[in-house]
Amino acid sequence: MSGCKTAIITGVNGQDGSYLAELLLSKGYRVIGLKRRTSTINTGRIDHIYISDKVSQAQFKLHYYDLSDGSAVCNLLSKYQPDEFYNLAAQSHVAVSFEIPEYTSDGIAGGTLKILDAIKNISPKTRFYQASSSEMFGDSTDYGSNGYTEESRMLPVSPYAVAKLHAHHMTRVYRQAYGIHASSGILFNHESPRRGETFVTRKITMAAARIKLGLQSKLLLGNLDAKRDWGFAGDYVEAMWMMLQQPIGDDYVVSTGKTYSVREFLEVVFDHAGLGSYEKYVEIDPRLFRPNEVPYLLGDSTKSRKLLGWEPKTSMADLARMMYDGDLQLIGA
Ligand code: NAP
Ligand code: GDD
Repeated sequence: MSGCKTAIITGVNGQDGSYLAELLLSKGYRVIGLKRRTSTINTGRIDHIYISDKVSQAQFKLHYYDLSDGSAVCNLLSKYQPDEFYNLAAQSHVAVSFEIPEYTSDGIAGGTLKILDAIKNISPKTRFYQASSSEMFGDSTDYGSNGYTEESRMLPVSPYAVAKLHAHHMTRVYRQAYGIHASSGILFNHESPRRGETFVTRKITMAAARIKLGLQSKLLLGNLDAKRDWGFAGDYVEAMWMMLQQPIGDDYVVSTGKTYSVREFLEVVFDHAGLGSYEKYVEIDPRLFRPNEVPYLLGDSTKSRKLLGWEPKTSMADLARMMYDGDLQLIGA
């Protein structure tokens, strides 16, 4: 396809990958989506794109890939010489990373390095986006009243976050040492009706919908006091794209600037569902506490707002209601 930009997305069938693919296709990009082979079908979030009459086969292509496979990255970079490369693939569950730290780390840290080095050697003009995470701040107290910034000290407290910090710094090193247009988006938690079902927001909205429909009576949760800066994934993928349109690569915090506890998220959802107090349904299960916890996340996205012109459009309450409504429809159908 001549005349249009080409972008590769790793983790295209994940939550963010699916929204980013939609965004880039709407801008006329050719999208090369990379997914890993699984024994059950894992394309539920992108099937609507794949079968759409409005998207040609040439515009949206899927390839198999794994973060451990450096030669696959080299082959794909040689074949497509993409304008942009978005690295979204990861074992992205923090609690799971305590159980499989080596796998999590090899994929996130090692996999990102493989991509950066392949870009340097094969396609140095390709602009690179790294999915960095607010989890990297860990339990650092280096934040002001508006939250963590790009310059705040990071003190990761999970294997996942340590691996993300490795990839974050490696992205900066390749930018500085080799002049690659490489950016890290330090994204705070972002959710949607497509969120994985084991993350706390989706676990809550699915359970509330099932309780409403009489299919479930209890919801087991861990720490309700942790606070998160929750935004909508559809808003956040716009920031990813904006970063790669800048003259040079850089690091950017992407967040709403508001923080709420898990308990407050529960209250909004159960109230919206008309179920009364969440306390009637929620039981605390000690098995769901983590060996280390990130107690508080609030992001100061002043830099993204000023330099990218990015704005979050969705409040936590609107997001919670959107997710519950989606689940009620899904489960009730
Ligand atoms: P997600 O829904 O869990 O998607 C992750 C994607 O990575 C999935 O497509 C998954 O494939 C793929 N993947 C996992 N292991 C892989 C491997 N070894 N090789 C190739 N692909 C692999 O995560 P998300 O919420 O979209 O997040 C996207 C990225 O942003 C992740 O890197 C995450 O760590 C990071 N991030 C997320 C948030 C957030 O709040 N959502 C915040 C900050 C940073 P399967 O479907 O087959 O598992
Ligand atoms: N998953 C889960 N399940 N979390 C629970 C539960 C439960 O039953 N009960 C309480 N929590 C608490 C967790 O202890 C944590 O403090 C908070 O809810 C949010 O947990 P998750 O939704 O699993 O998200 P996360 O903050 O650990 O990680 C997400 O955000 C990061 C960015 O800050 C993931 O998307 C990461 O990939 C991402 O980097």
